[in-house]
Parts: sequence; structure tokens; C-alpha cells
Amino acid sequence: MHVFERWESEIRGYSRAYPTVFASARGATMTDEAGRSYIDFFAGAGVLNFGHNNPRMKEAIIAFLEADGMIHSLDMATTPKREFIQAFVDTILAPRGWDHRLQFMGPTGTNAVEAALKLARRVTGRSTVVAFSHGFHGMTLGALACTANQYFRNAAGVPLQHVIRLPFENAPGGGVDALRQAACAWEDPSAGLEPPAAVVLEVIQAEGGVNVASREWLHAAQAFARHHGALLIVDDIQAGCGRTGSYFSFDGMDLDPDIVCLAKGIGGFGTPMAMNLVKPEHDRHWSPGEHTGTFRGQGISFVAGREALRYFEDDSLMGEVREKGATMRTALQDLAERHPAHRFAVRGRGMMQAIDVHDGALAKDVARRCFESGLVIGPCGSGGRVLKLIPPLTIERDQLDRGLAILGDALDAAIREAE
Ligand SMILES: Cc1ncc(COP(=O)(O)O)c(C=O)c1O
Repeated sequence: MHVFERWESEIRGYSRAYPTVFASARGATMTDEAGRSYIDFFAGAGVLNFGHNNPRMKEAIIAFLEADGMIHSLDMATTPKREFIQAFVDTILAPRGWDHRLQFMGPTGTNAVEAALKLARRVTGRSTVVAFSHGFHGMTLGALACTANQYFRNAAGVPLQHVIRLPFENAPGGGVDALRQAACAWEDPSAGLEPPAAVVLEVIQAEGGVNVASREWLHAAQAFARHHGALLIVDDIQAGCGRTGSYFSFDGMDLDPDIVCLAKGIGGFGTPMAMNLVKPEHDRHWSPGEHTGTFRGQGISFVAGREALRYFEDDSLMGEVREKGATMRTALQDLAERHPAHRFAVRGRGMMQAIDVHDGALAKDVARRCFESGLVIGPCGSGGRVLKLIPPLTIERDQLDRGLAILGDALDAAIREAE
């Protein structure tokens, strides 16, 4: 670790939590330079939905490289880009009857959120955005203004403005009625509230502690947006792309977002890509090249991302996700029941499941023990008190079971020692 400690910025985070040097990875297994292997329940924070070095994608990328394919092209028209777009339309948009346009931008999630906010403000001519407590939308200033976590906000160095934050469904003061009442405040002409440009939300707040919004609450948020002429922006950057057992986290809920932000998993291989789905009536407000970026789509990501879309041509992977998700949930519930005095809460959907141990120090200790026993797992939520499980969707069942057993043993041991 010497090179990292000597030369890399103080900002480094995960290399402190997982203090080893990883050398290779395949599927849901990461191997360090000492030859020790770890089961990956973190999947690059939701990037590696299809596993490390997915063989189908690797093969397609190698063929693409050998053919001297277009690796970089700004946003010029290229063969891999056309194949990705067409596959996305055929596999994801057409079955849902959607006509959204695909906007590419710089390749990280925060870029997608920035573009969505900019467009919503352009379309409505307004500046205020409604976001929610515990929401996480990225680190650049516009997205950071929507991100709730104070630790991240404190690093901004400038006021983070033009966002009004309401409580998320399961937060103190939250809930469907609370959201409806809060929304009523805008009805009062003397409330001093500017009509909003957008309502931006995660259907499942991933970094915020795996808080799952109900269909009813989401519809209340959508109704609020519609009533005030604001755009509904769904940030599906971590919960989308198959994580919950369907392509979008809101599939089957009859939600009608104006903009959907996607990133992380859509590049398929761990290669970066971000993309917004934008209703055409909003998209026409952009002028050519107005929201630019050097890496607006990238050849290898298009090739791997196109392969990833094959997993959505039928229901076999999504069926597996729902089954494996149920296994994860049962294991966490058993764990919570083993320690009734602690009143641990289990939350999640599909293969994003979590156990809230209500104590950041305990969660950190459990994650450390897991790491020592060969499992990579990341805490999230307020003070890091929630252990979030997001293994690759393609993880083998026996590996999933082994990982869950390691987690169970680690939590049992951490509690025993603390008592
Ligand atoms: C829901 C959500 N939105 C936005 C982001 C920001 O993405 P990135 O870190 O790629 O900028 C994240 C990252 O974790 C996220 O989970």
C-alpha cells in the first residue's frame, strides 16, 4: 500500500476501508496481489451488475479492439454507438412504449444529473428544484446541491443553492400525507415558495441507506411535479439497470418520468457511460452541443453496454435477480431475528438489500470483519449505519450463500464482542 499512502491524495476512501491491492477479478470474485480472494458484495457501488470481466463482454471488446473499432469519437456517429442506441430502443424503450431521446454526456452519474437539472431549468424557466432527505445525486455542484449528506455538502466551498429538500418517505416527517401537505405549501401565494423546475428523486435511495419508496409515495411526488408544472427526474443511476429485478427500479409502477438518469451499470463492463432518457418535448429545448463533454459515450462502453442489453431480451437474468434477492432478504431477516433486542431493520428490493444496524461503528466493525473473512461489503446511510448488499446480479448461488454466511458470522461476532 506504500505507493498509495505516499503519493495518492488524502481524498482516497475505499483503499482505506479495504486495505489490500487488488490484482484481478472475475464474476463476483476479486483477488489481491497476495492471491487472497474476496466475494464481492459491493460491485463497484452498483457498476458491475454483470460481474467483473464478464466473458461475453470481454469477447466483444477484444473483437472490437482487434478490428480497430472507434474507441473515442466525442459524440460523432459511430458503429458501436448506433448498435447500442438501436439495442436500447428495441430492448428497453419500445416494450414500454417510450419515445424518450437518449442524451449522452460526461460518463459519470453526476454528469447525468447536472444535465437533467440544467434541462429542467431551461424547460420551465425556473431555478428551484425539490429534492429529498437522504438523497444522493453526485458531487458536482448542481448535483451536490441535491445531495443531502452534510459531509459531502461541506466540501463544496460555496453555498449550495436553488434546492428545497423535503423528507423522503421513511424519513422523520415523511410519508405520503406529509408529502401531499408539504406540496400544498406551494398553493399559498404568500408562502414565499418559487414554483419548482423539477422534482428529483431516487426510487430506492441507495447511498442514503436503501430507503425504498412506495408506489403511492412516488405517485404523490409525480402528482406534485405535474400540478406545479415541474419535471419529474428519476435518478436510477444505482437502482436501475436490472438491480431490482427489472430494468428500471420503477417498472410496473405506472410512473411517467420526464427524465431518467442512468450511469454506472449501463457501460456493462465497468467502463464508464452516462445517459439521460428525455421526453422529446423537453429534449427539443437543447441546442446542438450546448451541454457538451469530451467523453459523451465511449466505444468500449457502447460495445459492452450493447452486450449487457442482451440480458434484458428475456426474463432469465431478471428472474434470477428476483430469486437471489429473496434469498438475500431471507438471510438478512434471519440475521435480524437472531438479535431481536437490536431491532435491526431489513430493507431493499431485488438484489439491493440492506440491514440497518442503527450504529455506524457497529456497521464499520462488521464490514471490517467481513473483509478479513473474504467478503467486500460497504456501509451506507446516515453515519454509515446500514450494510448494503449489492453483489453482481450474475453471482453464483453458492457464492451468494457463502457471502451471506460470512456476513452473518461477522455480525454475530461483532455483537458478541460489543456485549
Ligand atoms: C443515485 C445516484 N446518483 C448519482 C450518483 C453519482 O454518480 P457518479 O459517482 O458516477 O458521479 C450516484 C453514485 O453513487 C448514485 O448512487
